Amino acid sequence: MSLWLNGTAEKPCPSKTSVQSDFPSFNLPVRETQLSCASYVAGLTESDQRGCAYNVYKVSMLIKKAADIPSSEITSKSLYMNRRKFLAGTALVGATAVAGARLGEVWSPSDVVEANDKIPGIQSSPLSTTEKQTPYKDVTNYNNYYEFSTDKYEPAGLAQKFRTRPWTVEIDGAVKKKQKLDVDTIIKMAAPEERIYRHRCVEGWSIVVPWVGFSLSELIKRVDPLPKAKFVEFTTVLDMTQMPGQRTGALHWPYTEGLRMDEAMHPLTLLCFGLYGEVLPNQNGAPLRIVVPWKYGFKSAKAIVKITFTEDQPPTAWNDANAREYGFYSNVNPHVDHPRWSQAKERRLGEFLKRDTLMFNGYDQVASMYNGMDLKKYY
Ligand code: MTE
Repeated sequence: MSLWLNGTAEKPCPSKTSVQSDFPSFNLPVRETQLSCASYVAGLTESDQRGCAYNVYKVSMLIKKAADIPSSEITSKSLYMNRRKFLAGTALVGATAVAGARLGEVWSPSDVVEANDKIPGIQSSPLSTTEKQTPYKDVTNYNNYYEFSTDKYEPAGLAQKFRTRPWTVEIDGAVKKKQKLDVDTIIKMAAPEERIYRHRCVEGWSIVVPWVGFSLSELIKRVDPLPKAKFVEFTTVLDMTQMPGQRTGALHWPYTEGLRMDEAMHPLTLLCFGLYGEVLPNQNGAPLRIVVPWKYGFKSAKAIVKITFTEDQPPTAWNDANAREYGFYSNVNPHVDHPRWSQAKERRLGEFLKRDTLMFNGYDQVASMYNGMDLKKYY
């Protein structure tokens, strides 16, 4: 249980976080955020309104905290890290001396940032965007990771002690070389590249992240799928001793995702083990995740333990939870709305005004894979 500024105990979120997530407005004054939340709430169902009312409260409480001003925008990362370490130290030494309100601030998950090891030999990639990157602090403190929490600010803290070694990835299904590979063997299969990608969540927010990894095709080529393999299924880790969210029924665990074979082989599809030049933080999916930049973020599964080649389209966690709202394909598409909200616009984290959503999230090079497909039907 964590404490908020006024010492109120945190309540469990009563609805899925799609509502809350539209308000990553770190830079907004409290009043403006409350206004935009309020107008948003007006268009929702009664139960969503209850969820949002809670979240409005919580978001505005979070915004009041000085620590939520994105320091990485006004200080260098190393200076920022040192300040964080100092804060953590202060918390340890002075925890008993500070008031309850201050305690809530010091121990808030969004205060937890750890420097990870640098990844050597990273090459740049022509597939990267030159758009402004979302600050490190925001990429690593605003996470969808339901195995830890449905609250985006919590995985950063809750995943701190998550064990990512030893870690193996099983390769099975319609493949010649069925095997269990150590994650460090996989990471060494090809040279690491920095891929600066736009990342668009189905909930309507987006970020720009300098991921590190290489094309998933590098791994697929080495394990030799059989010609009958038409899809790839990703199974992620099941460990409720380490992942408190798995003790809830938020989704059917383990989280699974999938791609069609041509999508998995597309050079943009990234097998990812780092960001910002460093080993992937736990809350972002360490030690190994997928990044599919032209699809909504939930297709980019974190903490992968198994890759299965299948003849049939595999079941996936969000589709399983609500097939009407979350399709198997889930290509970013401004013309196909989510049943409960428009996808025509998105909010880049830290920006006030919304921007237009781009078809395939701006990755036009994937369009030919969907020639002749009705993307309203195959959403
Ligand atoms: N993978 C797992 N295992 N569990 C999750 O809850 N959330 C998805 C995706 N991968 C999720 C996951 C969603 S909804 C998004 S938007 C992205 O992870 C968020 O990635 P990020 O936290 O690195 O921004």
